Amino acid sequence: MKYKLLGRSGLKVSELCLGTMGFGTEAGWGADAATSFDIMDAYANAGGNFLDTANMYKLGTSEKIIGDYLSNQDRDYFVLATKYTLKDNTTNPNASGNNRKNMMRSVERSLKRLKTDFLDILYLHIWDDITPVDEVLRAMDDLIRQGKINYAAISDTPAWVVAKGNTLAELMGWSQFVALQIEYSLLARTPERELIPMAKHFGITVTPWAPLAGGALTGKYLRGEKGRIKPESNRLNERSESITKVVVDIAEELGVSPGNVALQWTRQQGFSCIPIIGATKVDQFIDNLKTIDVTLSDDQLKRLDEASAIQLGFPGDFFKEEAVRNNSFGGFYDRVEKR
Ligand SMILES: NC(=O)c1ccc[n+]([C@@H]2O[C@H](COP(=O)([O-])OP(=O)(O)OC[C@H]3O[C@@H](n4cnc5c(N)ncnc54)[C@H](OP(=O)(O)O)[C@@H]3O)[C@@H](O)[C@H]2O)c1
Repeated sequence: MKYKLLGRSGLKVSELCLGTMGFGTEAGWGADAATSFDIMDAYANAGGNFLDTANMYKLGTSEKIIGDYLSNQDRDYFVLATKYTLKDNTTNPNASGNNRKNMMRSVERSLKRLKTDFLDILYLHIWDDITPVDEVLRAMDDLIRQGKINYAAISDTPAWVVAKGNTLAELMGWSQFVALQIEYSLLARTPERELIPMAKHFGITVTPWAPLAGGALTGKYLRGEKGRIKPESNRLNERSESITKVVVDIAEELGVSPGNVALQWTRQQGFSCIPIIGATKVDQFIDNLKTIDVTLSDDQLKRLDEASAIQLGFPGDFFKEEAVRNNSFGGFYDRVEKR
């Protein structure tokens, strides 16, 4: 396993992150504590150090399992990320959302469940469209000064909000967001419109969730096998089938699993990217770790791109128009080396 620097920080995280949303058997799916421990052992033995959880995964069980595991491990080896925003078992008007009061309350509870006195990374989980972003960054910066968290990060939020937040933080001398967690895979490429260019500009590392589209990209549904995704899901349709077939063909060419190809695709898109591997079964997880040894050729990347391309919409597609690129920019548009 190699290590990457997370965003514009000096923090070293392994090139694959372990997603623990499935640690706990609540809601009829997921890994029990013993299997979760085995997955974390396999990950650490392979050199992995980057754990992703959230206050409400499996109603707090995910954090509790990690806390129990870390109690018998070298806590400092791991880079532990959790999230706040969504309600846990407290209900009052401020027990959810991005507000400062909920952030402070949620972090205290996470620290108890995780049996640690600091978090390496705190993500805002989902934008609430209510709280001013300066309130979020200032509160995260206070947690950093208190030694309760080391880095600020954000998930599932519009690009303009993240951009405003990081710009304000730079001006105010607050810690900036170092990671952006978003759904991104061969089936979900809309972040290429705004979020990914924004992350590139600010040097924020993208940590894609559902990089296997919940398992659809492993090809198992094409083979008639069953899994967590329900047949009516929009991850299983004609488009996803045709994309997955290309993934399966390329996997056969390379002698690796389709999941490896789908995960590696996210890592060869020209921006800092650490996919979050959601694991509930040890054998699947061990197979997914083999991604680090896979390299896709230019031709394979092109075939995957063509099979899964989306329209950028306005203004992304507008800039690509011949009339705009060549005529309106006096023929210089394609001759400039871009950042
Ligand atoms: N920020 C957010 O809003 C957000 C949202 C969702 C997730 N997340 C984070 O991202 C992580 C990953 O999300 P995800 O679990 O949806 O990701 P995913 O990697 O797209 O899907 C994981 C699922 O794919 C199947 N799978 C994985 N490897 C396989 C293999 N080798 N062969 C066959 N099937 C395989 C398994 O499903 P089966 O059970 O069907 O076998 C597994 O549970 C989560 O754990 C969480 O940490 C964040």
